[in-house]
Amino acid sequence: MQMNEQRVAIVTGANKGLGLAVAENFVNEGKKVVFVIRNKANLEETKQRFQKEVNENRVMFIQLDVSDTKGIKHAVDQVLTEWGRIDILVNNAGIRYETPIEEINEEEWDQVIDVNLKSTFFFSQAVVPAMKERGWGRIINMSSFGGQAGPLTSGAHYSASKAGQIALSKTFARSLAQYGITVNAVTPASVRTPEMDKMDPAKIAQMVESIPLKRVGEPKEVADLVSYLASDSGGFTTGATFDINGGRLMR
Ligand SMILES: NC(=O)c1ccc[n+]([C@@H]2O[C@H](COP(=O)([O-])OP(=O)(O)OC[C@H]3O[C@@H](n4cnc5c(N)ncnc54)[C@H](O)[C@@H]3O)[C@@H](O)[C@H]2O)c1
Repeated sequence: MQMNEQRVAIVTGANKGLGLAVAENFVNEGKKVVFVIRNKANLEETKQRFQKEVNENRVMFIQLDVSDTKGIKHAVDQVLTEWGRIDILVNNAGIRYETPIEEINEEEWDQVIDVNLKSTFFFSQAVVPAMKERGWGRIINMSSFGGQAGPLTSGAHYSASKAGQIALSKTFARSLAQYGITVNAVTPASVRTPEMDKMDPAKIAQMVESIPLKRVGEPKEVADLVSYLASDSGGFTTGATFDINGGRLMR
């Protein structure tokens, strides 16, 4: 890579939690970063945080509901038109409901599968031609412990969508390895998010008790793992699933 060449990374759901931490790491590493954010107010708020990089044309903000497949194509076209390349995609946007099996209706099932799984497929599909063209690419899918071990509290639709992301990672990894594109899944559990900060402290203490490392994870710890997978150093690992769960699942 030329010294003045900057890699372009797209991060979905980049306004808070793990997505924001991943995008922030990429910005600090000197990458050009596309923040994909569903809600206008959240987009504007996040844009404020990165005003300096906005002025330097190092960050781009795209308002998009990732379950909108046409919108995904437009977003990818926009990035290619403005910046000419896409090197890294992090499919991070996700929703989670704790609805019991008997109460999940078709609408909720479709919503969870569309946001978590369908978007992962169509966003990845949309960036592949640009990655193939350069012979280099990194796709990282933010799956979950729930997709591996069966969820502790989340619903069946959530765990199915997260297991599907792991299967998609392996499928893409196998077919894209020959083009220098790696595809991996990250499976967190119990990592601090703004929602967790609003939870009953007694409930958090109970959760921490069940984690071998006796603490919750920090978004930066997940972001650092993603940064490794997105780097040149991560180039010999593909189709893998990276657990980051404080020791909750050992396999
Ligand atoms: N925090 C954890 O411990 C943990 C554990 C397992 C998996 N995960 C996964 O990590 C990812 C990030 O989760 P988080 O913990 O930061 O949660 P979060 O709820 O803070 O973040 C989710 C992000 O996705 C965005 N999003 C949701 N629906 C969207 C849509 N239709 N279009 C665009 N964006 C949308 C939200 O706006 C938000 O920015 C999720 O995929 C989640 O399933 C997190």
